Amino acid sequence: MATKGIVLAGGSGTRLYPMTAVFSKQLQIIYDKPMIYYPISTLMIAGIKDILLISTPADTPNFEKLLGDGSQWGINISYKVQNKPKGIAEAFIYGEEFIGNDQVCLILGDNLFYGRLDFLRHAILNNVGATVFGYAVNNPQEYGVVEFGADNKVLSIEEKPAEPKSKFAIPGLYVFDNDVVKIAKNLAPSPRGELEITDMQKVYLERNKLNVETISRGIAWLDTGTPDSLLEASTFIHAIEKRQGRKIACLEEIALEYGFIDRAKYDQTVVNLPNCSYKDYCVQVADDIQGR
Ligand code: DAU
Repeated sequence: MATKGIVLAGGSGTRLYPMTAVFSKQLQIIYDKPMIYYPISTLMIAGIKDILLISTPADTPNFEKLLGDGSQWGINISYKVQNKPKGIAEAFIYGEEFIGNDQVCLILGDNLFYGRLDFLRHAILNNVGATVFGYAVNNPQEYGVVEFGADNKVLSIEEKPAEPKSKFAIPGLYVFDNDVVKIAKNLAPSPRGELEITDMQKVYLERNKLNVETISRGIAWLDTGTPDSLLEASTFIHAIEKRQGRKIACLEEIALEYGFIDRAKYDQTVVNLPNCSYKDYCVQVADDIQGR
């Protein structure tokens, strides 16, 4: 069974107004590239080749302009428009045809991960039912929160609880089996009128099919919800890129390194980039990758 990838990149983005007045949150800049590059890189590094991007009527054309059909990176990107932001779990209804008979990994377009992504590859390979993650943060009340009991048994899942029962937030990265489509169609909207991703997780929990893996602090999961956290994410990416001389989430580099494209195709992709430091980097890094 294959694993399809969905990037959910819609929503109103009002919390970042006026930055989001003309284009969406997921097109904002994180240091040297648009935010959307980071979640796409996460899916690629996890080995996912077929990606559906879901966004608003106004923003979908911008994403298409930026990312195209993905063939330049050896992947397939298709698009669906979500007419109104009626909940994260709606992604599985929009994605029904795309998911087909496969399992699916959903990533929110504003979630950034940095570090060894073995935890995600492992989850994709071993998923039975649903696998989500727990990541210790100092502001769990702003996220979905998982409570663990003895032997790491999951006791509860709550969306933005005023009094969190643990410090483990659930990042916007989820692996679901094929039942997710049917469940999404039967999910009742929450009091705020959305199909909640936490309600989806609760259905799997009730069925005894929810696996929650904790992610260690060796992985950075970055927030992008406020002007401060946007700047902090940029500073973080800048510091690591500068120190290592290697870019984070350079999709051309990942495509070559993970074998989505061969060197000839890579050169063809890179030659089409406009002259800029990003292109210079792509030209230089290919020899580094192949010379190792
Ligand atoms: O970041 C992780 C958190 O993401 C999880 O811990 C929460 O359980 C989950 O509900 C979500 O919380 P947020 O407060 O970030 O949800 P928000 O409504 O802001 O939506 C997250 C992203 O998904 C946002 O960039 C916009 C996009 N979105 C959201 C909705 C509701 C859509 O594209 N369509 C939608 O209908």
